[in-house]
Amino acid sequence: MNQTGVKIAAVAHYAPARIVTNEDLTRWLDTSDEWITSRTGMKRRHWAAPGQATSDLAIAAARRLLEQTNCDPNEVDCYIVATCTADYPFPATACIVASKLGAKGKAAFDIEIACSGFIYGLTVASSLIRSGVYRRIVLIGAETLSKIVNKGDRGTAILFGDGAGAVLLEATQEDSFLSADLGSDGSRPEILLVEAGGSRRATDAAAIAANAHLIHMAGREVFKFAVNKMISATGRALEKAHLTKSDVDFLIPHQANKRIIDAAAKYLGMPPEKVVCNIHEYGNTSAASIPIALSESVEQGRIAPGNVIVFVGFGGGLSWGAVAWRWQALASEGR
Ligand code: ACO
Repeated sequence: MNQTGVKIAAVAHYAPARIVTNEDLTRWLDTSDEWITSRTGMKRRHWAAPGQATSDLAIAAARRLLEQTNCDPNEVDCYIVATCTADYPFPATACIVASKLGAKGKAAFDIEIACSGFIYGLTVASSLIRSGVYRRIVLIGAETLSKIVNKGDRGTAILFGDGAGAVLLEATQEDSFLSADLGSDGSRPEILLVEAGGSRRATDAAAIAANAHLIHMAGREVFKFAVNKMISATGRALEKAHLTKSDVDFLIPHQANKRIIDAAAKYLGMPPEKVVCNIHEYGNTSAASIPIALSESVEQGRIAPGNVIVFVGFGGGLSWGAVAWRWQALASEGR
């Protein structure tokens, strides 16, 4: 197979209309705007409407994406959705997305690795293009975490939001993909999990009574793990790409907690202007957070061709990963 390069030709995002502020949360939780802001950096999050599923958000983001480039959905070879809040246990959400976009018949699959989903997805999609299997892939990080969060638990209810971010990846001569460093440790799933609804525990009445069908998280443990893995994965991705921290123009991290981002950025010696953070607006949208942050940065004109970006994420699994990427002009800016 021919070795070819890959680039992000377009990026877009979508968030549901309903905004839930910290103040709103205080109406039913023993919490405060001050606590949430100082401990997480979050001010608002978007929550999907009752009838709105993850595929609806993914489709909205993908439509915006394809419109930007006048790309017919059938010109895309493969659709990948990174999500831990799929519409159903099966079929894959990506199949529903591709068909509703009008691309019935195209390859479509989901990646479920919680908040690391976009990083894993970017690595897989880039590899499919660089190895010549496909020329054009739509990769979407999409989540409706509001559907699986325990709204009565102040330790988790405040953290999560819904949204979708999408990228169009295209084969090209130059290569944007510089390196990836992915990892996992599944030895203690209880640290961060939804226990019921899979093959180990049914969502029966007892499970529902114990809230086992909702997110459980050991916050402090995840916090420490997150800071460590963001630093080590970024370091290894840079090393593999033969780059140093000073070569990085932007760090686009998973948006789980501003204190996690700040601690990792400080250790990595990244000044705030190089670190993309929009957590105040969306909270933690899991696999959607990195592409939403990228989409906003591009809209704001922050990122220029030639810039080196490190995308870095972590989450349930436990899992983590970083991708080093050299930005190229978008399709809408001329090929
Ligand atoms: N409002 C007010 N008080 C609160 C709240 C709240 N919303 N939540 C917890 N508290 C209280 C606790 O009860 C505790 O009180 P106590 O000392 O009387 O027992 C106190 O605040 C401190 O609690 P901690 O859990 O130690 O607070 P911490 O500073 O660690 O912040 C947080 C908690 C925000 C959850 C933090 O630990 C965190 O961000 N962890 C990482 C989460 C994460 O990254 N998840 C990503 C993965 S998601 C995925 O993969 C799907």
